[in-house]
Amino acid sequence: MQCHSTSPRRIPGVAHAGLVQKASQEIHTMPIVSPRCTQSLLVLVLVCLLAPAGAQAPAGSAAPPPAGPHEEQEQAVPRREEEPTGLMQFPLGTATPSEICGACHKAIYREFATGFGSDLEYKAIVYQAATGTPLTLPAHVSATATLHALAGIDPFPIHARTVEEEGHACNVCHFPQAFELPDMEAPGITKPQGRAPEQELGGLTCASCHLTPDGKIRGPYNVTAPHPTVADPRIHTSAMCAYCHALGQRVVGKQTQTFLEWREDFHKPGLGSQHCQDCHMFRTLRKLAEDFDVPVRAVARHLWTGGHSTQRLRTALSLVIVQDEEGRPGLHVHVMNIGAGHSVPTGSNRRAVYLMAEVFDSQGQEAASQEWMFAPWYGERPDDRAFLVEDARRPDAAAAIQADAQGPHEAPIRAGEERVLSWVPPLVPGQYTVRARLIYDLNRYNDRTFTEDQTEMYRASLAITVRGGP
Ligand code: HEC
Ligand code: HEC
Ligand code: HEC
Ligand code: HEC
Ligand code: HEC
Repeated sequence: MQCHSTSPRRIPGVAHAGLVQKASQEIHTMPIVSPRCTQSLLVLVLVCLLAPAGAQAPAGSAAPPPAGPHEEQEQAVPRREEEPTGLMQFPLGTATPSEICGACHKAIYREFATGFGSDLEYKAIVYQAATGTPLTLPAHVSATATLHALAGIDPFPIHARTVEEEGHACNVCHFPQAFELPDMEAPGITKPQGRAPEQELGGLTCASCHLTPDGKIRGPYNVTAPHPTVADPRIHTSAMCAYCHALGQRVVGKQTQTFLEWREDFHKPGLGSQHCQDCHMFRTLRKLAEDFDVPVRAVARHLWTGGHSTQRLRTALSLVIVQDEEGRPGLHVHVMNIGAGHSVPTGSNRRAVYLMAEVFDSQGQEAASQEWMFAPWYGERPDDRAFLVEDARRPDAAAAIQADAQGPHEAPIRAGEERVLSWVPPLVPGQYTVRARLIYDLNRYNDRTFTEDQTEMYRASLAITVRGGP
């Protein structure tokens, strides 16, 4: 891994009594960066902290805020000059290494960078053939880090980008520039702007979510901090996640719809009052910045457990097997979304949930089996082999073909939905056990024999007696 930092002199800052020593100790124990990076980061943080109080950015170093998709950002430049002197500024924008914030916000950084307090696990993924080289993290990176912290080094999207889009930038969400929060009621969600390729490496940083286009740190409170802050209560709402977790208009069944699924299927019908943070950022009582004389507050754990957390996946769906009629083989399997504020699976079209139903006879031999796949469609219509010829002419041919080649499948299970699948296994009279399992797969396009990226979500079984035909 290369270092995220550029020339340390470019970061102006403010000395804070007693902080330098502690910051350096903390930096030495940060597991996500390589030792070489750690040294230069240490230098960077020290320079940042040792700069004389009240120091202004050296001429030309306080880069203008990155241009974003919004009009307001044009007017943001002069406002920055009104900032009280002596506050930290972030000329690298959203490429500001998270370690800089972590020097003061220690517990939050530990969660972000090591998943502390979660069961997160970065699983090996193969792109296609099970014999292919598994995509794993570099050895010096914590495999239990949050996926946000890994976004710049996660080999799976980086590889997919090369294969599927021939190098087209996907950084708009994976490495965005500072953005204004979108309107909660916007009919569609536009893309934020990506960072320049040479600034990709830091991936998704603290600043990606917290830095506003005019260089302030957004947070829920009205506080005095060593950096400019702006209190924005919308940080508690799903608008905070909308930009990267949705794209375009609501199309039921399609990928990249998480925010819209939440808004249309969960929030508006009144299925729950929770916003994304209420399920994905459980709160605790602590100081925001450990070494400062600040009160204990209700702080959100920065963990975002999702498809890489068994605990999280097990709360999403439930399953019931029903024999239609006493003595007959006809079955119904009910799959219910009981715990997600959006569809399951949600997000990337690569995700899938398999429902695997098997019937065993009284000797324990498998008598029949059936499988269904629930997955987001790649595009604005159901994945279907019938479109393969058309796909070959698309600019995103590789990704579209990959999706359609799998053929028709079940759409994801929407918030609050109960999907009923029927099945009549070919059974001769006898005693049987029906077993049904729900399996989550991080990449549905690879060989099914590769199971390292799969997690069992739930299982149920039912004893049945069959006396006659269907
Ligand atoms: C030199 C120490 C220091 C550094 C470095 C630092 N912060 Fe802070 N930050 C603080 C302190 C102190 C507070 C106020 C805490 C309080 O009052 O509870 C604060 C407050 C905040 C808040 C709450 C603001 C609000 O209005 O609610 C956020 C969010 C935040 N910081 C994020 C960041 C991010 C992101 C970075 C890196 C880009 C960062 N901080 C770097 C010390 C620091
Ligand atoms: C700046 C863009 C951005 C914002 C804002 C953002 N996310 Fe993410 N999120 C991502 C990206 C990109 C990934 C995938 C990273 C990867 O796998 O490489 C991700 C991953 C996740 C995951 C983990 C998925 C998994 O595979 O385990 C969860 C959960 C999540 N985000 C929830 C949230 C929530 C909740 C919010 C709002 C508080 C939010 N995100 C805000 C870009 C963003
Ligand atoms: C994916 C977006 C995202 C990233 C990345 C992120 N935060 Fe936050 N942060 C949030 C949200 C959302 C909240 C408000 C949570 C809530 O509703 O309580 C928050 C709250 C905070 C607060 C105020 C305390 C609180 O929970 O109310 C601080 C301080 C903070 N973050 C610091 C950081 C630091 C430091 C990093 C990097 C190590 C970071 N954040 C990374 C989204 C993010
Ligand atoms: C009621 C609780 C709840 C709410 C509200 C909620 N989620 Fe989730 N989320 C879950 C559960 C459970 C899962 C695991 C099942 C799944 O992947 O769909 C999950 C999974 C995820 C994943 C993982 C997808 C992956 O590919 O690994 C992301 C990303 C995510 N949620 C983002 C969000 C965002 C963004 C919001 C708000 C718009 C949100 N969630 C609201 C419960 C919730
Ligand atoms: C609209 C924002 C957005 C855009 C644009 C985007 N992504 Fe993502 N991507 C995400 C989010 C958010 C996740 C996290 C998981 C989820 O929600 O499924 C993700 C996850 C992924 C994953 C799965 C990573 C994992 O953790 O297993 C891959 C692979 C990926 N993206 C590749 C790409 C490629 C290739 C492109 C460009 C063609 C792209 N993405 C463009 C937002 C985006």
